[in-house]
Amino acid sequence: MSTPGDTGEIRYDTTNVMADRVGPENGLSDAELAAIAPRVAGHHDALLAERKAGRLPFLDLPHARDTVDAIETFAASARGRFENLVVLGIGGSALGTIALHGALGHPFHNLLATEKRPGTRLFVADNIDPVLMQGLLDVIDPAETLFNVVTKSGETAETVSQLMLVTALLRDRLGSAWTDHVVATTDPVKGALRRIADSEGFVTFEVPEYVGGRFSVLSPVGLLPAALVGLDSRTLLTGAERMDARLQTGRLERNPAYLAAAVHYLLDSKHGKSIAVMMSYSHALRDVADWFRQLWAESLGKAKSLDDRTVHIGQTPVKAVGPTDQHSQVQLYVEGPADKMFTFLAVDEPAHDVGIPDEYPDVEACAYLGGRTFGELLAAERTGTAIALTESARPNATLTLPRLDPAALGALLLMLEVQTVMAGRLYNVNPFDQPGVEAGKVAAYALMGRKGHEKRRKEIEEASGHTQPRII
Ligand code: PA5
Repeated sequence: MSTPGDTGEIRYDTTNVMADRVGPENGLSDAELAAIAPRVAGHHDALLAERKAGRLPFLDLPHARDTVDAIETFAASARGRFENLVVLGIGGSALGTIALHGALGHPFHNLLATEKRPGTRLFVADNIDPVLMQGLLDVIDPAETLFNVVTKSGETAETVSQLMLVTALLRDRLGSAWTDHVVATTDPVKGALRRIADSEGFVTFEVPEYVGGRFSVLSPVGLLPAALVGLDSRTLLTGAERMDARLQTGRLERNPAYLAAAVHYLLDSKHGKSIAVMMSYSHALRDVADWFRQLWAESLGKAKSLDDRTVHIGQTPVKAVGPTDQHSQVQLYVEGPADKMFTFLAVDEPAHDVGIPDEYPDVEACAYLGGRTFGELLAAERTGTAIALTESARPNATLTLPRLDPAALGALLLMLEVQTVMAGRLYNVNPFDQPGVEAGKVAAYALMGRKGHEKRRKEIEEASGHTQPRII
């Protein structure tokens, strides 16, 4: 089954997930899809009602044109003043920015000369490893740098500690002008960053209420850095808006997000495909696969169902890049355990194609490549991998963008978010919380001596006191 959509739209091809291609043990039957269709339609109606009640605000982001106006105004005022943008953020506060820039920016953006770059250089500090932090300080001049500190909660230790470092550095180097070098993206009301930003007088942008990190790429979390590095935020939203319109149907065979959710859910729950590999055959979309990995993992990996049963469910998402990972993982994928399903990302028309010159015509290993293009070779390698997987009964689908531009990317990101929310419904879990992440955060707070976490610290110390270390 495939949903071609209108010309120019994203296509979701599920031919190779069907039983007639990969066998009844590993693939889906029409009867299975027909049986789940009414459930999906019911969840669609429930989601429409939730949206109307304002409980799915991430779906309204593509329509928030005032926000883009403000972002573009700020980006225009920053143009020429800063050579570097450093994003301080982690998880959902960083991965969207990396995905947007990876997909739409020049592959060597930071190495382009200033006059050839459409905006600032971009550095995303999504780790606190001191070696990385020092390395960053070694290559940027604070006087030429804008720091965008991004944290929805305003309290995440990694991001707050980075802000502390940057504050000290900027104060020391720039005196009273230092606050012009920080822009904060955070909750409109709550959290430590909101309080700091208000008292220091930072320019701020808002993460709207109830939009969690991994659903925030189309808010200022992703759009502000995108505009600062010179990407077209407005058209991203236009593409997402078009996808939103396309997804207004509850009919499985017409809604690619719902079909993808159902395919993943059925292959996992009925056919043992507990691992979902997203393999991008577009180098530029590799970070979208990374962004999706977090979205799928954090949204669906849950201990409790919505009716409070202990379920411990969630597919393990894996990111791969073709053809690079053909030479790393595909051996396992084709011949290893049959516990995986695959989604290839493809682009019909690469922004540029490069010819392979007809050199070495007498060398058989080269002759067939001469006169072809790298784009053709890439497409053939993707098709070849799909054939190999299908022949070894590994279900694989392909998501194809007609071209990789801001509109298509906005559409893809929104589609994957809606897919995740529908999957949450099918698995009967809350896709918007992350109690497992919070548990780790609280333990780290306790270990670092944060006020209010003394009891937890004591528990941790007692537990480790009763444990015999086994280290060699
Ligand atoms: O998706 C999520 O909610 C998380 O990955 C958060 O983005 C991440 O934990 C960072 O949180 P915050 O934005 O509050 O700093």
